[in-house]
Amino acid sequence: MPTPADLSITPRDRRFGRETATPRLWHGGRIEATAIYNALSATFPVGEAFFVESVRAFREGAPPKLAEEIQGFTTQEAIHSREHDAFNKRAARSGYDLSKLEQQVEWRLSITRAKPPIVGLAATMALEHFTAILAHQLLANPRHLAGAEQETADLWRWHAVEEIEHKGVAYDAWLHATRDWPKGKRWKVKAKVMLLVTRNFVIDRTAGALELMRQDGVTGIRAWTTLLWCLWVRPGMFRKIAGAWFKFFLPGFHPWDEDDRHLLAAYERISGGVEAERKVRRAG
Ligand SMILES: [Fe+2]
Ligand SMILES: [Fe+2]
Repeated sequence: MPTPADLSITPRDRRFGRETATPRLWHGGRIEATAIYNALSATFPVGEAFFVESVRAFREGAPPKLAEEIQGFTTQEAIHSREHDAFNKRAARSGYDLSKLEQQVEWRLSITRAKPPIVGLAATMALEHFTAILAHQLLANPRHLAGAEQETADLWRWHAVEEIEHKGVAYDAWLHATRDWPKGKRWKVKAKVMLLVTRNFVIDRTAGALELMRQDGVTGIRAWTTLLWCLWVRPGMFRKIAGAWFKFFLPGFHPWDEDDRHLLAAYERISGGVEAERKVRRAG
């Protein structure tokens, strides 16, 4: 299934955590769960700026619908960067040092930036599939954010919704950019980049989470077991996205083969209610 013709990529310019304090262990007081999400958030401001730069490099000559979607994607990612930057500053104020994690992302990106722009687009396409399947799982299974502080959980849900909404953009830009390539070459490059990106993602995010857990005084075997349990067993995010990850390698794959617009609709129903309630409360 290609990107749905009636899909509109609508940036929701929301702000989180400006009026409420974010507890240091915002994820239900759990060190490992907080560390996993904080480690991911540390990568977003620079990582998403890189996604934007990689996709925009191929905007020239794109069909009008794709060009419009690139515009929506760019705006959404820019707002995500802003909100995660604000979130990361709150984490820093509560005592976490994210600088090592941020330097690691900068280093990874510098390697990709030294390569031809199509490599950046391929890496973005693979990472956008990754974020889309993480986002799907996050919204489909409430267990992932169970016990989390409300405002921070809202931030992650909002981000997840927009990741699903624009999940086809980098992929469609890639399909357009490589339209003259033989099928076999397309698949080989795509598969190779996905395997590399996955290896780096798993290694770097695990190391990042372990570093943040160390800052909370949890190290060694206890750190490894609680972290791996959380990632792979319960709630087991990595285990639960494994099937969707594999689909990327199927011939003819497209991110919208999984039509998860029902998750967007469910979010709009709930957050529309929350927003209306907030406005009433503010007005009151
Ligand atoms: Fe994003
Ligand atoms: Fe994205």
